[in-house]
Amino acid sequence: MKILSIETSCDETSAAIVEKEKDTQIKVISHVTASSMTLHGTTGGIIPENAAREQVKWIMRVITQCLLQSKNKKTKNELSEAHTILKEVDGIAVTYGPGLIGSLIIGVETAKTLAFILKKPLIPVNHLLAHISANFIQSPRSPFPLSPFPCIGLIVSGGHTDLLYFTSIKKYQWLGGTRDDAAGEAFDKVGRLLNLSYPAGPEIEKRALNVKKITLSFTSPLLNSNDYDFSFSGLKAQVMRFVQKEKNINEVLKNEICYAAQKAIIDILISKTLKAAKEFNCSTILLGGGVSANQTLKAQFNEKIMHQSHTIQLFSPVAPYCTDNAAMIGAHALLDPNPVNWREVKAEPELYFT
Ligand code: KG4
Ligand code: ZN
Repeated sequence: MKILSIETSCDETSAAIVEKEKDTQIKVISHVTASSMTLHGTTGGIIPENAAREQVKWIMRVITQCLLQSKNKKTKNELSEAHTILKEVDGIAVTYGPGLIGSLIIGVETAKTLAFILKKPLIPVNHLLAHISANFIQSPRSPFPLSPFPCIGLIVSGGHTDLLYFTSIKKYQWLGGTRDDAAGEAFDKVGRLLNLSYPAGPEIEKRALNVKKITLSFTSPLLNSNDYDFSFSGLKAQVMRFVQKEKNINEVLKNEICYAAQKAIIDILISKTLKAAKEFNCSTILLGGGVSANQTLKAQFNEKIMHQSHTIQLFSPVAPYCTDNAAMIGAHALLDPNPVNWREVKAEPELYFT
């Protein structure tokens, strides 16, 4: 079964053709993403209207290129060739939430139109669960979770921080999440205070690696609370107070702030996730979302795992599938195929876990 999947929940316009190999392994046949990140960098963050306009600009080009790439086709008559390839797919999957309403609508209405015209099944996908399904995309570069369930899933993105207990990809229990800012948002807000480019996560990670001597620390709220909740807005306040107090923030100090802020975020993510793995007796943890691209997070997770009394294996998607992408939407649709009549599918910006 071959699926065309579409992701437009925020600032990426992405399309992929994926198919299932073996029981839980997803093969990406082609994958094209256009990002309006550079544009949002100029405004220091995403302005929803700008993101939606970019989605309109890119959606048809991205889908067309993805279809042509799936057959390695170079042709002068791109649209007609793409249409022929499109007729061969078995279904269409699309992110229907959560996300920015304007951005989501572009993907959802495009997918509905294609499903209607081509008489193909349409599978609406929850973007958050897809971040976890990204772990099932094949890659020669990373180990693969062969029998991962039951497991703990940690979703850490620019908009969400959620901890879940999965008994299968379809059956899960939400354990906790952030009470305010998401983990990725915390990286981005600290970055803005330090005049770093948006999104700041990758640069904060790089700068933290340059720190030789640890002189600073910020606290992680809720670190010792008896629940699975997170809170990151206080970190921004701590960094803001520090930055306002210091007269001269040179590059060395900037790197130290990055190190301390990243540590405060990482410490609580690891602590609550390992607590959940212990309580639910899980030997697998699946990460997902943009922050799961952070190598320091993974290295420190693995270091802490070594000191656990029971064996735990940590998985995270390979780099291109950590941040928003259509391949993970197709992967989730193949692992949990639930087609819905196109008339009933609508964008749900506030969609959460049901
Ligand atoms: O999953 P994603 O692409 O978008 C949402 O669904 O929100 O995540 C984007 C977030 C941004 O906040 C970005 O700063 C963060 O992921 N991010 C990172 C890294 N790469 C991306 N945070 C920390 N370290 C990274 N290497
Ligand atoms: Zn995301």
